[in-house]
Amino acid sequence: MDNTKILAIETSFDETAVAIMSGRKLISNVLSSSVDLHKKWGGVVPSIARKAHLDNIEYVYKEALQRGGLEIEDIDYIAVTYGPGLAIALEVGLQFAQNLAYDNDKPLIPINHMEGHLLSPFALNSNGKSVLPDGKDIKDFFPAMALLVSGNHTELVYADKIGDYAVIGETLDDAAGEAFDKVARMLNFGYPGGPVINHVVKKYRSENKNWKSTIGEFALPVPMKDSGDLNFSYSGLKTACMYKIKELRESGINDSEWAWKFCNEYIDVVLQSLEIKLEAALKKYPDVRSVIIGGGVMSNEIIVRGIGRLSRSMDRDFLIPEKKLRTDNAGMIGVAAYFQVAGGESGLCDRDVFSLDRVPNLRLGDEVF
Ligand code: KG4
Ligand code: ZN
Repeated sequence: MDNTKILAIETSFDETAVAIMSGRKLISNVLSSSVDLHKKWGGVVPSIARKAHLDNIEYVYKEALQRGGLEIEDIDYIAVTYGPGLAIALEVGLQFAQNLAYDNDKPLIPINHMEGHLLSPFALNSNGKSVLPDGKDIKDFFPAMALLVSGNHTELVYADKIGDYAVIGETLDDAAGEAFDKVARMLNFGYPGGPVINHVVKKYRSENKNWKSTIGEFALPVPMKDSGDLNFSYSGLKTACMYKIKELRESGINDSEWAWKFCNEYIDVVLQSLEIKLEAALKKYPDVRSVIIGGGVMSNEIIVRGIGRLSRSMDRDFLIPEKKLRTDNAGMIGVAAYFQVAGGESGLCDRDVFSLDRVPNLRLGDEVF
């Protein structure tokens, strides 16, 4: 059993996170979110996120070591997210990691945040349990197709094997999570809106047992339905929502009479847009053996169920990370680092650790390190 100890740091957006791996096992995963500080602004404010990272990182780091029952001397590698993300947020984790690695003479492993999302189903929890279907080797799941959907990304990634990725489809404008947040804001649901829309639709469906797909009732378009490529786009849907909500309000109908039903249709069109592209991608790449999902929007059970059903109907394994590894966290960065070390990556050492810079627009397949 591999007992290599990796301490991973993630500060690309609004979560200050530190995790510790022992081999593929996640032995501590600590997170401090600044989400509450952004609520009144209706979205993440970079300078507020940066200040929260600076205020919290030392504490989160110490807590991660303590919960793992370890000292810094026990750690073999430091891993850190260097992109994609907000430049001034990434910098905080990066500088902390660089100083930690240099002062303690540990190699530094730079990690692409999206690779973390993609590899998160391969983590073992602290009891050594896996979410993978039994009886298969990790390599049996590759080539894999990842559908990563968060507040900042909506992308399809073809992963030939671990470490070999190509983005084959991505959003041309807003990410799906961002659209969830903006539509929720129009409905006065607060920020972040994805979980609220999710909650409202679950209630709507449980209170209306005979509900049917309402697509058409509010005339919401299924984004990029006939685009013929693998890309996504959510700004048109967002605008359609804005006009429809305005029209309903101007006609004097109270929000309470239509808002839940509206959200029900909204989730349906987002799910359909994801399904159409995933189905096209799986047809285009018949060698793909599994579908991997990740990102905050994949906390939505309705979307997960739909994507799972489609993947299985197309004879692919469906790999879904544990819920707390779907939204941003440092455990996923640790898992990606584990595979790099296992693959022979030795990391940056001594003063070379300071040569690492953040890459806010980093894409999978374009890694510099
Ligand atoms: O991956 P994530 O934690 O952070 C990044 O953006 O990288 O994703 C956050 C996004 C937000 O836009 C939030 O509204 C959305 O994920 N989200 C959801 C749900 N939970 C979080 N969207 C739909 N349904 C949910 N249950
Ligand atoms: Zn993310």
